[in-house]
Amino acid sequence: MAGISFRNVTKRFGKTIALNNASFDIQSGEFFCFFGPPLSGKSTVLKLILGLETPDEGEILIGGKPVNQVSPADRNVAMVFQNLALFPHMTAGQNVRFPLVERKMPEDRIRARVEAVSAKLHIGHLLHKPPAQLSGGERQRVAIARALVRDPVAYLMDDPISALDARLREETRVELKRIQRDLGHTLVYVTHDQEEAMSIADRMAMMEQGEIRQIGAPAEIYDAPVSRYVARLLGAPMMNILPVNPGDGLQAGQGVISLPAGRVPSGVTEIGIRPEDLKVEPWSETHPGRPARVYEVELLGGYTVVTLDTGDEKLKALVRGKPDIRIESAVALSCNPANIQFFNQAGEALAR
Ligand SMILES: Nc1ncnc2c1ncn2[C@@H]1O[C@H](COP(=O)(O)OP(=O)(O)OP(=O)(O)O)[C@@H](O)[C@H]1O
Ligand SMILES: [Mg+2]
Repeated sequence: MAGISFRNVTKRFGKTIALNNASFDIQSGEFFCFFGPPLSGKSTVLKLILGLETPDEGEILIGGKPVNQVSPADRNVAMVFQNLALFPHMTAGQNVRFPLVERKMPEDRIRARVEAVSAKLHIGHLLHKPPAQLSGGERQRVAIARALVRDPVAYLMDDPISALDARLREETRVELKRIQRDLGHTLVYVTHDQEEAMSIADRMAMMEQGEIRQIGAPAEIYDAPVSRYVARLLGAPMMNILPVNPGDGLQAGQGVISLPAGRVPSGVTEIGIRPEDLKVEPWSETHPGRPARVYEVELLGGYTVVTLDTGDEKLKALVRGKPDIRIESAVALSCNPANIQFFNQAGEALAR
């Protein structure tokens, strides 16, 4: 396996800048995710790694060697195009060997590769069965084996499980993560699902209109986003954003949240609070600031989403269990100051 690096890579299509001055280092054996909204440049990154597109500027390195002049075939990077579902009319074994047969690999090498991968994924005893006779988990292991049966320096996957239903998607991502870790493959993965990216990636790159805005471990980015944009890409419900007017420096959202005195950085125009950090309590006159009104309460099993109306905007709070919160009641909102993010006019995060 090999690492992959971009040095100031730019790719244009006519007037569109699909990727602008991108630099990153994907380590060998890393599960690296590109995450961002549609048209932000995720697939362009994969095509540049594969060699299906050539950069207008900058350098691409695979295993430390420049590959700008190397043909796709000689880069030995595998794109997993098919989604991770099995062909129902073939046995598990025929599914696994399919990519090698397609590539016209000699039969003895096919047998050796399938054997090696099956042993690693513990599916050797399943190969004679049709998919219909496998459990959900077994099916996913076989599908992943088929994706990983080649022996390239890195695997690329472009939203490979988005076509699966929600439950299968959850199972598959757990299997994929485990198998990648066990095998030590370099895996570059594109998704537009924030939960999938957070749960599966060792590190991730946050994309916006062809720009990489932040690179880091999911928890790092979640806790310390560099901007309001990045902060709102991760987390469901999304981070609450409350305005801070220049006149009332220690009040946010027209007074529903009191900010910690002396700890508000200068230049703050907005604060961000994650729904799980927003504390909702019955209103009391001793609370500093203004009450909010409970707009809606959604019981979702282990937790509850409370939508709050401040008069100007709607906020979301994520509360454990089934709290006794009545619709239309007045409530006091607060947040541990350590969990408040501060943003300036440009949407950049400010150091506390
Ligand atoms: N072959 C092409 N010709 C012209 N424009 C292109 C081409 N490929 C990509 N683009 C443009 O480059 C930008 C980035 O596209 P890209 O496909 O990389 O986005 P993406 O993040 O993969 O989006 P999605 O989530 O929709 O798959 C877009 O504006 C797109 O229209
Ligand atoms: Mg794409």
